[in-house]
This record gives sequence, structure tokens and C-alpha cells, in this order.
Amino acid sequence: MTDPLDLASPALPAPARGLWKDAWQRRLERWYASPTLYRWSLANPLTRWVTRRRTQKLFDLMAGFVHSQVMLGCVRLDLFRQLYQAPADLAELARRSDLPAPALQRLLLSAVAIGLLEHRSQGRFGLGPLGVPLATHPGITQMIEHNQLLYEDMRDPLGFLQNAWQGGMAAYWPYAHDAQAAQTQAQDAFTRYSALMDASQGFVVQEILSAYHFAQHACVLDVGASKGRFVCALARHAPHLQFKLFDLPPVLALAEAEVQAQDLAARMTLHPGSFLHDPLPTGADLVTLVRVAHDHPDAVVRQILKKIHDALPLGGTLLLAEPMAQSADPADGPPKPTDAYFHFYLLAMGAGRLRTPDELRALMEAAGFSHVELVPNAMPIHARILIGRKSRCLP
Ligand SMILES: C[S@@+](CC[C@H](N)C(=O)[O-])C[C@H]1O[C@@H](n2cnc3c(N)ncnc32)[C@H](O)[C@@H]1O
Repeated sequence: MTDPLDLASPALPAPARGLWKDAWQRRLERWYASPTLYRWSLANPLTRWVTRRRTQKLFDLMAGFVHSQVMLGCVRLDLFRQLYQAPADLAELARRSDLPAPALQRLLLSAVAIGLLEHRSQGRFGLGPLGVPLATHPGITQMIEHNQLLYEDMRDPLGFLQNAWQGGMAAYWPYAHDAQAAQTQAQDAFTRYSALMDASQGFVVQEILSAYHFAQHACVLDVGASKGRFVCALARHAPHLQFKLFDLPPVLALAEAEVQAQDLAARMTLHPGSFLHDPLPTGADLVTLVRVAHDHPDAVVRQILKKIHDALPLGGTLLLAEPMAQSADPADGPPKPTDAYFHFYLLAMGAGRLRTPDELRALMEAAGFSHVELVPNAMPIHARILIGRKSRCLP
């Protein structure tokens, strides 16, 4: 296997501003480190909130693993779904869970502290603002359970960095390390990750459907279509469209059942294959690539994009949607903590990486796409969307 680890583009601020900024940041670090300034800032009502907020944020970072395990404990007890049906008190919840009441109470109070649950009347517990989505979106709870693999892999973070892709997450994604996975691995492995993708794709689908207008297109090819959740939702959203689904054969076998169950088989054709070894089907004027590029190293992404470009007619469009990294440009906003999750998830998985919109744009342009632009969408945490065109003029 070739080394799948690519380096991200370095963050390079403008050189003149860079030196001035470095000096200012050095001074800030000295201030932050000063015990005298810390005490002064806490004593001063005008500055106290800044220091408190920074301390609270740091504490939350240190305790983050406890928060995620509290959330997992609640998921495993099915508390969110139960409390969505009706609030309940400690005695009732202890009876249902078979846990000792004093221990369960710690879990419940911790879940209240982090906004998952809330105190209700008569000593009962109900859902907090962050608990409601966990009761109503099975995709989130499945991801919380799945994240245990990553938690185990990262238990020793430096050992993990020396030896990433040796753990449970790498084993979970058969294609990340094995270009022949569809031939060498059992159907079970594909069924398992496809179910997770299906459950977690809902939010991404909503982002794409509400951000992009499909009226101008006639036929969509979804590359890495999984069980077809996106194309089925798009088929209902845009009844004039026809579809082609491309994915590994064991995955498209699952999509076939799904498409038939939804009575959409007449509008969809299935094209089992590997974008590593096979050409893509032609005939679509829009190709969608949803949460696929970030699974692969740059060399493979170049290959996929080139095949998409070849498969499109002149004037055809590529829509690429996936979580993207925050660029180092301050105009793009402050760094996002969600990037840390995806950097480590994709490292543990095997071969891909979280890319900035500019890195993806450069890869798309290198494959021949022009007019590459970001389509604004409401909830970029789920995915950001890039569109590129195949020029109408022959090269
Ligand atoms: C992370 S999943 C995303 C699936 C779906 N687009 C979504 O957003 O839920 C990546 C998809 O790419 C497919 N895939 C991986 N390697 C492939 C290959 N060599 N050829 C075709 N499809 C592949 C996987 O089977 C999987 O369905």
C-alpha cells in the first residue's frame, strides 16, 4: 500500500502582517501567563468575565471525555427517547435501568450540567435543549455509539499518532486500506458502515437540497451513493430528475433493495464498480460526490475528479459536499473545534483528510473544472458545498 498520509497546505498569513502579529501574540502570551494579571483581572468587574470564560473553556476541554462518556451512558440507557415520551424521576429511571440509584443520579446530574437533561417538577428529569435532537435523530445516537471506536483508538494519543490506522476505526472502513476490499471482505463489513452512513446522511441531504437548485439538470450521477438515501430524497424533491448510482458492488446491492422499497427503481440505474479501477458511467449532466473525497488521499481524489470530469458532458456540473476545514485566513472566521474531530476521525479511518475549500478547489481545478465556487449553506458543520463546471468549450 502507498503511504496514504498527505500534508495539508501550510497556514501562511501575509508576511508583513505576520511579523507584527507574532510580536503582539508574544506579548499576549506573557500577559496570560502572569499571575498578577490573572488576579487583577478577576478582581476587576470589567475584565472578570473574560478570564472566567477562558478558564471555563479550558476546563471544558480537559473534561471533554467525561462529557462524551456521560452522553454515551445516557444513549445506552435509552434515556433520551424515554424522557422525550415523558419526564421521569430517579426512582423510576433506576428501576428501568437496573442501576443503583446513587450512581444513576450522578449520571443524571452530570447530563443536566452539560445541557442534555433538565430538572422538571416533582423531582423528575426531562430533556434539556441538547438532549432533544438525541431523542429525535437516530443518526446522532448511532454516531455517538460509533465514536467509541475512535475513543478506544485515541486512548494513547501519541501512540495513536505513531501508529494510526491500526485500530478499530481502520478495521471498520474496509476500503480505506484495501483497494480490493469489495472482492476480499465479507458483505457484513459493507452492510455495517452503509447503515451508519444512511443514518447519518439526513442532515447533509437537507443542506444540499436547501442550498442548490436542481431545476437546470436532467440526470444526476451520485458517486459513492451508499444505500441511496441522498438520491431518493432528491428524487422526491425534484421529480423531473433521473439518477445513476455508483458505488462498490456490495454497497449497491443494499441500494437496490432501498430504491425498490421506495418505488423509485424506474428512475434509477445502478452502476456497481470501483472508481479506483473502473470508468464512471456517462449520461449525467450533474455528478454529486457527497462525503467521499475526505476518505481518500490526494492522489485518489485527483483520480476520482478526473474520472468525473471525463464522464460529464461539456457544460456539466460537479457538486462536492462534505465537512471542510477552516482555512487559516482570518476572514474565514476563528478556528472551529469541529475540525479537531474530523482531523482525528479521518486519520484513524485510514487514508483521507479534512481539506479546506481552497484545497478542494485546487484539486477540482487541476482535474479540469472551472468556475469553482462555494455554495453558501445554513449549517456548514454538516457539510460545505462546492460547485464546479466542465467548460462548454473543447480544450
Ligand atoms: C463515507 S461514505 C459516504 C456515502 C454517502 N455519499 C454519504 O454521504 O452518506 C463513502 C462511500 O464511498 C464508497 N466507496 C469507497 N471506495 C469506493 C470505490 N473505490 N469505488 C466506489 N465507491 C467507493 C463507499 O462504499 C461509501 O458508500
